[in-house]
Amino acid sequence: MAEQVKSGSQRSRKRVFSGIQPSGDMHLGNYLGAVKGWVQRQHERENFFCIVDLHAITVPQKPDELREQTRSLAAMLFAAGLDPKLCTLFVQGHVAAHSEGAWLLNCVTPLGWLERMTQYKDKSAKQESVSTGLLDYPVLMAADILLYDADEVPVGEDQKQHVELARDIAQRFNHLYGETFVVPEPVIPDTGARVMGLDNPTVKMSKTFAHIRGHVVRMLDEPKEMERSIMRAVTDSGKEIRFSNDPERAGVNNLLGIYKAVTGKSKQECENDFADARGYGDLKKRVAEVVVAELTPIRERYDELMADPAELDRLLAIGAEQAAAVSAPKLNEIKHKMGLTVPTGSGL
Ligand code: TYM
Repeated sequence: MAEQVKSGSQRSRKRVFSGIQPSGDMHLGNYLGAVKGWVQRQHERENFFCIVDLHAITVPQKPDELREQTRSLAAMLFAAGLDPKLCTLFVQGHVAAHSEGAWLLNCVTPLGWLERMTQYKDKSAKQESVSTGLLDYPVLMAADILLYDADEVPVGEDQKQHVELARDIAQRFNHLYGETFVVPEPVIPDTGARVMGLDNPTVKMSKTFAHIRGHVVRMLDEPKEMERSIMRAVTDSGKEIRFSNDPERAGVNNLLGIYKAVTGKSKQECENDFADARGYGDLKKRVAEVVVAELTPIRERYDELMADPAELDRLLAIGAEQAAAVSAPKLNEIKHKMGLTVPTGSGL
């Protein structure tokens, strides 16, 4: 018999699923919006983290670069603190259930739901020719999450709409075919959920604009380069160092938000830290210091891991095996519910 759908309330620990694309270099927005939280809470949860290479090919990519970036991102995530004893880290393309699951969910997802997605509208407006994969991207993301019966999906603000779509797909499937999926909750951090571009604090920090000088802090930037980008960050003409919702003051707010997310201090403590600052120059200097201090040891561990490719491959192979052990039976359950025949011996 298939295992019954168990939510976190029935399991001893809540199950978490999240993912990150290996396109472009990981930046401070990915780290503060998602990865830092994954690391901090990995002790309390049962965790599945996925390097989503199948999502990365929804826009044009260079094959050699994608291969390299996939391994580099794996090393970066372990270096940032993901512990293979506490979580399963794997590459999406190594676990066939994700592509197959996406196909099955496609067949219950109305086209209109996908055409409404804001990220699809933004990304497709920038492409001359749009792949079907780009439109279908959120269904693959839903398959990622639902195959693991994840209770929680920790993401930055920009992915919330996609997690809500995964919820809608889960509910629709459960309604059509009977209880099958846990309906997942998006978990958005209260600070760092939307790190803005340093060159332009009205747009989110993004790999898409990484070529613009001073837009991002990359995890692998040299400390001098990080300092330069932060010292050059766009602010306003005032000098008050306080959190605010005033769009005019978005630059200072972003720097304070970065400081808060890195240090883990409260808003009040952060503002107190700058009570005697002489202006935005002091703020930027202090933000650069805490960012460099946070990222330097990560970079050192990254270099060690990249120097041992066989060990990295070994860890990813274990991750893929652990992920397949959970997702393969779930895939059979979905197929069975939809009326497909499944291999004998699957218990259905
Ligand atoms: P991706 O690779 O664009 O981003 C990875 C994570 O980083 C967060 N993020 C940010 N957070 C704060 N400020 C920013 N400027 C910023 N930029 C990015 C993202 O919100 C995300 O949490 N579709 C997803 C990957 C994915 C996934 C999944 C996530 C595929 N399957 C299943 C969760 C569950 C993506 O492209 O993230």
